[in-house]
Amino acid sequence: MLDRTHRFRRAGTAAVIAIAVVMLASCGDSTGPSNKQNALRPAGKYSRQILHLTEPFFWIAVVIGLGVIGGTFFVALRFREKPGEERAVKQVHGNTILEISWTVIPAVILAIMAVPTVATIFSLAKKPTGPNVVNVTVTARQWWWQFTYTDPGNGVETANELHIPVGQPISLTLQGPPECSPAPCYLNGVIHSFWVPELNGKKDVVPGRKQFLKLEADKPGIYQGQCAEYCGLSHADMRLRVIAQTPADYQAWVRSQLAQKVSETALKAGVDNATWGCATCHSFKSAVAGAVAPNLTHLADRTAFAGDKYLLNFDNLWKWVYDAPGRKPMGNLYQHMPAFNQLSMSQAEAQKIACFLLTNTATNPNPPSECAGK
Ligand code: CUA
Repeated sequence: MLDRTHRFRRAGTAAVIAIAVVMLASCGDSTGPSNKQNALRPAGKYSRQILHLTEPFFWIAVVIGLGVIGGTFFVALRFREKPGEERAVKQVHGNTILEISWTVIPAVILAIMAVPTVATIFSLAKKPTGPNVVNVTVTARQWWWQFTYTDPGNGVETANELHIPVGQPISLTLQGPPECSPAPCYLNGVIHSFWVPELNGKKDVVPGRKQFLKLEADKPGIYQGQCAEYCGLSHADMRLRVIAQTPADYQAWVRSQLAQKVSETALKAGVDNATWGCATCHSFKSAVAGAVAPNLTHLADRTAFAGDKYLLNFDNLWKWVYDAPGRKPMGNLYQHMPAFNQLSMSQAEAQKIACFLLTNTATNPNPPSECAGK
């Protein structure tokens, strides 16, 4: 009898610990700062569709899970061998009714769940239509996102930060970098996955294919995203942010991005293109893509850079110009930002370039104090 009480107590303690672990694991999000990547807190109709599909399935799984676990415990306790009891286990060779029912019941449950699942998949795969749709081509690079707006009158070419108007469907065409033939061709084409959890599910970006994904945000805000397919050394630093704005603010942003505030020639001269060859990879002309690297014409209008790894400020920018591979691992990538410090660039030169970019690629320049006199 004593032995039995002891075993009950031990089982009780184990159950309390298990429940506490599960409950504590779910606490993280409400106490810490939100990293803005929460599929359970949708901010648009497509992500909400996914959550509405998930919720009933979750509760179905809870009921089935508790039933199975509860049944297991009940049978284990109820029919266990009692102290002093000697008995042979009853030999059973199959039970047709039982086997048919535990095959048919799950099949019926899965068939029922398939109906809303397939409907949601089809609904999310449907391309939005109408005059409100904003079309953007997303090119996944190692390791940053290139955004090319493709609607008539909107040829904005930017990187890592996707501006969108709220309440309007955004139709994304996801693709890899240009293929390697004919020359000039660029490699670094591997599979990535585009994911902004608060705005929709994820979609793989496969070189050589064009994939479709749509987004829509309810209200202005910043929604962070992340490459969700391992794509090499800096996969974790291949992030992005979607900046949702009111349609008026968005239109103003488009106009500012299309304006060539400082001439291409002046921008190239300011970064000392003759020495460092920045324009070989970057573009300094608005609405024109760089060969393999982000368009810098409006760099200082962005809040972050390098695949959203660094906030855009003087310190981060000059250190990046000086030694990019030291700030974000590039490994043996075919093409990447060079380590200019090993190509005889001085820190003063890197700081001068950073100050020039921060001053001349901003729609409303607000040069940092460190740049006074540079
Ligand atoms: Cu791109 Cu992971």
